[in-house]
This record gives sequence, structure tokens and C-alpha cells, in this order.
Amino acid sequence: MCYVRIISVISLLGNVLSFRGTPMYQKLAEWSKTYGPVMTVYLGPIRCVALNNTEVVLEALVKKQADFAGRPQTYSTKLLSDGAKSIALGDYHATWRLHRKLATKALRLYTSGNRLELRMTESLNKVVEVLKGIKEPVNPHLYNSLVALNILFGVCFDQTYAVDDPMFKNMLSIFDEFLTSFGNGPLEDIIPPLRLCPTKQMKRMIQLFDDIFNILDIFIVEHRNTLSPDHIRDFTDSILLAQKAAMEELDEATMSKITDDHVRQTIGDIFGAGIDTTRLTLDWAILYLASHPEVPSKIHKEVDQVLPKSGTMLLSYRNHLPYTEAVLHEVMRLSSVVPLSLPHCTICDTKIGDNDVPQGTMVLLNLWMMHHDPDKWTDVEAFKPERFLDETGAMAPKPDSWLPFSAGRRVCLGESVAKQELVLLLAGYMRQFKISLPDGVKPDFEAIGGGFVRTPKPFQSRFCGT
Ligand code: HEM
Repeated sequence: MCYVRIISVISLLGNVLSFRGTPMYQKLAEWSKTYGPVMTVYLGPIRCVALNNTEVVLEALVKKQADFAGRPQTYSTKLLSDGAKSIALGDYHATWRLHRKLATKALRLYTSGNRLELRMTESLNKVVEVLKGIKEPVNPHLYNSLVALNILFGVCFDQTYAVDDPMFKNMLSIFDEFLTSFGNGPLEDIIPPLRLCPTKQMKRMIQLFDDIFNILDIFIVEHRNTLSPDHIRDFTDSILLAQKAAMEELDEATMSKITDDHVRQTIGDIFGAGIDTTRLTLDWAILYLASHPEVPSKIHKEVDQVLPKSGTMLLSYRNHLPYTEAVLHEVMRLSSVVPLSLPHCTICDTKIGDNDVPQGTMVLLNLWMMHHDPDKWTDVEAFKPERFLDETGAMAPKPDSWLPFSAGRRVCLGESVAKQELVLLLAGYMRQFKISLPDGVKPDFEAIGGGFVRTPKPFQSRFCGT
């Protein structure tokens, strides 16, 4: 296999032990310096191809997007998604395409009009009120979690919660446990005999998924009972109506693919996929802003010209906030909250360059490496939002090596919602607060946790009213 190297003897664990202590994206980046951008690694018996630079990632995701559009069907993903009925975990086939289309349509329907603006404003205001009452430095994670959870609760179920509400506390503890406790995933995926007597980790994961879906089910049943086509309250209404419309239009064979279980998984996808990504991006944004005082003062200047001191956060403000948007791009580049994207899988025999990649191969896309490639970014580790602006101060065309939402057939379904809301949330924070680190504290930009998402170490920051 030309420049693909088999970098490990196949053993029961394959390369798994090498990923203990060092996040997988970082280890792969390190190995790629020796073995080249396309490598084969073994996660136990699972053979994976890891792609480690912009050219090979884009070849897979864009040029050959149909070949690489599958999702690996591991033991745990099938178990946790009701037999792969979810969009995020489902493989690439006709039923999956149908559900992705329905979800995209429902999200677009929900975000048309001013619902997202109102949700965002309400969620942000709740947190601003609490933060205004706190004079000492705080860990922003709790408050960013409240913003993210409230936006997703609002988008999905037309609900928001206060910081001390038992529903918020319950969800926060579930999502925080996911962040900190599951490393690179359950061992059952790579050591099949363990499935007969599941590990504590696997049992806990199943329990937490059940806990989340038990809560979502209450909302979904209530929405089905009160659904009205004339009054769309949220994404759940939109997807239930899209399901109804599709049932009326489609033939019987297709209808049988739009089950209530699929719709329940889709709602779980939208709710779950948006929370960690949004709150972690905000955590990193606050850490970078608090550590680079020259940047917040430029944002303040821009925000003060565009946003009124109070009132709804209009999506149209975003067009007038290029510097704030560039800051967000730079935060997303450096933080790379989903460093290896979600694993893909080839749906046919294909190639990357001269390298054969057989059907059914798991593919890891190292977005973190793309974002930290010194050949693509000058002064690669420096926090420089200006790199995303042109000479007039407007946003320059997106660099090929910036890909936090991935690309192609499996591109993040929430990309446009996330981009709009994150710029405005950042602007909304800056409209109200000057953000800084406590005196004498040095920032630490190392991430903690496993390899799926990058979480900043807990830190304190000051929020002083402007
Ligand atoms: C900072 C914000 C976000 C980032 C960085 C992000 C990033 C990603 C990435 C890297 C993927 C994997 C794409 C692939 O497989 O190649 C993904 C998938 C997905 N995201 Fe996001 N995401 C964000 C916010 C959101 C939000 C707010 C939603 C929902 C409204 C969402 C919904 C989804 C869904 C449903 C998928 C699965 C798509 C599929 O498998 O076809 N994401 N996201």
C-alpha cells in the first residue's frame, strides 16, 4: 500500500494502548510526521484509515464524498441508537437519506422567521441576569451549559430553564458525565467477548442514554398530543409535521421507514449534537478572550456600533460583525472541539491517492491536525483572528484548512444554526461584560478528557458589567 504504513502488529488491542494518556488526534498527528498523511491503525480488530492533512481529508469528504459517506456500525453505536436509527450514528442508505432530508427540512422550517432569535435572546438573558449578580470570578462552564441547554431545549421543545431548576441540573450532570467519563469509547467495541459481561463503563453509558431518552419521550408524547399545523412551536412540531406530510405523500414501502422510533432518534440527534459542541466552543471562546485582552476591546468596539444595549439578538446583526465572526473562527480553529469529526466508513472499495481503501473501512478525519498544520497556517499556535479577514476588514473566503463542521454528505446538520447562534452569543456576552482572567492567573490551553471532544481544563473568569 504505497505510502500507507501498517504501523502496528495486529493484536487484540491493536494500537489502542498507544492512545492511553495522549489524545488520539494528537498521537495520529505525531505518527503522520513519520508515516505520512494516510495511515492504517488498528482499534482492536477494527482496521481504520486515518487521514491527517487537508488534501487527503478533502479528497475523502468532498471529491469522493459518496464513497466515504458511511458510519461504522460498532456494537455500542447500534445499541445506543436503537439499531442505528439515528442520523448521526446511522449508516449511509436510503432510509438514512430520507431522515436526514426530513430533519434538514424541519430545521429550516423551524429557523425561518424569528424563533431562533427569540430563543437565543431568552437563553442569553437568563445567564446575563445571573452573571450580573456575581462579583467574584466564576467557572463559565456552568453558564455556557445553561445557554446551550436552553437553546436546544427551546429549539426542540419550546422550553427554557433557570440555573437552579432540577431539569437543568439533571441534564447538566448527564452531559458532564459524558464529557469526562467515557474516554475513547467502550471496550466492548474492540473486545467482543466483553459483550457477554459488559463493563461498568458500558452499563453506565446505556443508563445515561436511557435517562436522556426518558426525558425526551415525555416531551415528544406531549407534542404528538397537542400538534397543530397552524402553530409550529419548535423543531419537534416541525419534524412531526414533516413525518405526517411524508406519510401522506409517500408509497407504503417508504412510509414503513418513517417510524416513530426514527423520529425519536432524530430529535435526540438535534438535541444531543448541539449541546456539547455549543457549550465547549463558548468555554474556549471565553478562555481565549480572557487571555488576549487586545481582542475583546476590538470586539467591544464593533459590538457597540452594531448592537443596541438590550432587545432581541437579530440574526441580521451577524452581517455587521466581521471581527467577532473572525474571532469565532479562530477559536474554532484552535479549539477544534470535535477533533476527529465523527468516524466515517467507506461504502465501496475506493482510494485515497494511490492507496486502496476497501469497502467497510473505518475512516478517521483529523480536523485538529488540519487546524494545526504549520504548512497551512502562519504562526500556527498564535491566536490571530485577523487571519480570517481581508484587507477591507470583511470576512475573507473560508480557508480550505478550516473545517470544524466537516464537509460532504455527513457535514454537520446544524452548521448554519451553530454559526449564526455562536457569533451572536459571543456578541451578546460582549455587549454586557468585560471578560478577564483573575489577577495573576496564567491561561492553560491544554484540553482534558478523551479523544471525541476537546474540553478546556476548568478555569475561572471575571465577568464585569460594561
Ligand atoms: C460548534 C458547533 C458545532 C460543531 C463544531 C459541530 C461539528 C460537527 C461535526 C464535526 C460533525 C461530524 C460530521 C461528519 O461526520 O463528518 C457533526 C455532525 C452533526 N451535527 Fe454538528 N456541530 C456543531 C453544532 C451542531 C448543532 C447546534 C446541531 C443541531 C442543531 C448539530 C447537529 C449535528 C448532527 C445531527 C450531526 C450528524 C450529521 C450526520 O451524521 O449526517 N451540530 N457536527
